[in-house]
Amino acid sequence: MKIAMVGAGYVGLVTGVCLADFGHDVTCIDNDPRKIEALREGIVPIYEPGLSELVKANVEGGRLAFSSDLKSVVKDADVVFIAVGTPSRRGDGHADLTYVHAVAREIAAAVDGFTVVVTKSTVPVGTGDEVAHIIATTNPNADVAVVSNPEFLREGAAIDDFKRPDRIVVGIEDERARAVMTEVYRPLYLNQAPLQFTGRRTAELIKYAANAFLALKITFINEVADLCESAGADVQQVARGIGLDNRIGSKFLNAGPGYGGSCFPKDTLALMKIGQDFGSPMRLVETTVAINDQRKRAMSRKVITACGGDVRGKKIGVLGLTFKPNTDDMREAPSIDIIRGLQDRGAIISAYDPKGMDAAREMIDKVDYAANAYDVAQDADALVLITEWNEFRSLDLERLKGLMKSPVLVDLRNVYRHDEVTRHGFAYSSVGRPDHATYRDGMTETAE
Ligand SMILES: NC(=O)c1ccc[n+]([C@@H]2O[C@H](COP(=O)([O-])OP(=O)(O)OC[C@H]3O[C@@H](n4cnc5c(N)ncnc54)[C@H](O)[C@@H]3O)[C@@H](O)[C@H]2O)c1
Repeated sequence: MKIAMVGAGYVGLVTGVCLADFGHDVTCIDNDPRKIEALREGIVPIYEPGLSELVKANVEGGRLAFSSDLKSVVKDADVVFIAVGTPSRRGDGHADLTYVHAVAREIAAAVDGFTVVVTKSTVPVGTGDEVAHIIATTNPNADVAVVSNPEFLREGAAIDDFKRPDRIVVGIEDERARAVMTEVYRPLYLNQAPLQFTGRRTAELIKYAANAFLALKITFINEVADLCESAGADVQQVARGIGLDNRIGSKFLNAGPGYGGSCFPKDTLALMKIGQDFGSPMRLVETTVAINDQRKRAMSRKVITACGGDVRGKKIGVLGLTFKPNTDDMREAPSIDIIRGLQDRGAIISAYDPKGMDAAREMIDKVDYAANAYDVAQDADALVLITEWNEFRSLDLERLKGLMKSPVLVDLRNVYRHDEVTRHGFAYSSVGRPDHATYRDGMTETAE
């Protein structure tokens, strides 16, 4: 099939290259000429494990190309995906559909013959109707079926998620689209990935409901972590104890500094607004958003407490900036709020992240960027582990202590064990775990 992918960001590029890898003939289009130029030169502008290699293989195989010329690519396409951004609209938190609508108009003017137009961007309920309306009014002769096909991939594991999805959701209103979409996803379907056909509005809502539920789960365990701290219980064991119940499940039960990233914050906010618009408020989601907002800032207070209540003039070293490991994405990363909270109280920040420092430089001012974790620790009054990159999981604690002005470690991802860190003379605090306990095999608790 000839596929046009409009938007060559995290989702568009991964989807485009994976569909090419299935054997389709894919052209990724972007209106950022630098992005297209770089891709044509073999440079992948984002970090996603395995992506560069897959792009290279499919370009060489003649199945993947890049273009800035939407018109000529869409004209020949059987299927056109819309994978442009839908950020929070400034001021009110609704999903900003400017880019989606603009692309719909461009597609309308370019289509030739029956074409399936697929919205892959995360969009509010009713956007498919609006896209169909825009296309019909811009070009009354256009013969299109507008489909909703939300994306569930996770950054950092995006290729694997695309190739081994839990499900593929396809919302259609025109039966002609069913066969086309089945053909697009045939290799996955043959691999037994469930292909769920629904109405278009239902598919649009599935995406928001899924993300909001996951955000709610994270926020729940974060609140349990706070209770554990007050009550002298251990959140990791609580999470294991509840997660082994199949009705609950063990994923997304890691207590931490609050959710961030390019999806959960904007999608929870958008679902809140959708609920209000339909007169059906999503009160659990509203509360989740409020708790999570406060939590990021609360994490800087945790660091200040670990530093004896005052960080003015102190050097705080930050390990990890991206919203999670294995990505360079800094959008809505908790590190931004935590660092600003510390800077507001007079702290001097040095930081290191394996992939996120270029993006971080554009978002956070007055940070000294270091070459590695040990460089961050040099003369630091405290270290804060914010993102659990693998390279922070087995740091040489003795060496770190030797470099630091005072050995204080605040572990916001519960990577280390209390006994292990304190044995090296550190003052250690983590999230939702009592300071007086030691842990063996992550399971057995014994009083010190
Ligand atoms: N990033 C994720 O993990 C993820 C996962 C699932 C769903 N989504 C959703 O997918 C959508 C895209 O997200 P993303 O992270 O890939 O965004 P992104 O910002 O990385 O990419 C969007 C791309 O679209 C391009 N673009 C904008 N307007 C255009 C136009 N008129 N013509 C051509 N290109 C245009 C931009 O230049 C950019 O390269 C969003 O709706 C997001 O919510 C994202």
